[in-house]
Amino acid sequence: MAKTPAAVPHHIAIVMDGNGRWANRRLLPRVAGHRQGVDSLRRCIRACAQRGVRVLTVFAFSSENWNRPAEEVGALMELLATALAREVPELDRAGVRLHFVGDREGLKPKVREGLAAAEARTAANAQLVLNVCFNYGGRWDIAQAARRLAEAGTPITEQSLNGALALAHVPDPDLLIRTGGEQRISNFLLWQAAYSELFFSDRLWPDFDEAALDEALAAYAGRERRFGKTSAQVAAEPSTAAG
Ligand code: IPE
Ligand code: IPE
Ligand code: MG
Repeated sequence: MAKTPAAVPHHIAIVMDGNGRWANRRLLPRVAGHRQGVDSLRRCIRACAQRGVRVLTVFAFSSENWNRPAEEVGALMELLATALAREVPELDRAGVRLHFVGDREGLKPKVREGLAAAEARTAANAQLVLNVCFNYGGRWDIAQAARRLAEAGTPITEQSLNGALALAHVPDPDLLIRTGGEQRISNFLLWQAAYSELFFSDRLWPDFDEAALDEALAAYAGRERRFGKTSAQVAAEPSTAAG
């Protein structure tokens, strides 16, 4: 039957899960899995850009990940700093515009400076928007947006709240991928994923390669997005290519 011919999602969001298990299986410390996860992200960014994806939003550290052992939390903070230093020049060359999404209050001043510097350096780029959700939670986002509107005396509507959320600079994700085999949201984009197509991959994040991405894209291309309408209504609509 007629499918919306919007084959390539404009915006992909990914819960990059499974680093710890990847390391455990190799009898390595969990942080080795996180390091490998950075390599997988680098590959994924390149592959998304090549396929015409315009926005990529990745979940790197959740509000709840502070509950992990202090040693692992420390290693993840360290990894953020080193990955920034190592990857930003190449991302900049590739035309990637970086945004860090999440509560920066909880981060050390030096890390915050690094995030701001990376955003400033890449601000003029337009090939791909990369949102890195770090110290992010969907509930935090909705609460901070509501608080800001209330403080400004702005009436809370779907539109005003949408505009006050941390991802107001991009349209909602078309496709939300979670790797690592779990089928849950884990406090990721609670508001923005209202109509995202969901794809769950059993691959652990460090093993999520181009072929796995293409599998997700193929599944997406076969979906019919109805947004509450009937299938017949969708079929009668003039085709709208995404992009
Ligand atoms: C995802 O991998 C990365 C973060 C949450 C920081 P995990 O560390 O959750 O890996 P698993 O789920 O334990 O395998
Ligand atoms: C979600 O993974 C957060 C990130 C990938 C950053 P978790 O591993 O923290 O999720 P749960 O705890 O299994 O739900
Ligand atoms: Mg996990």
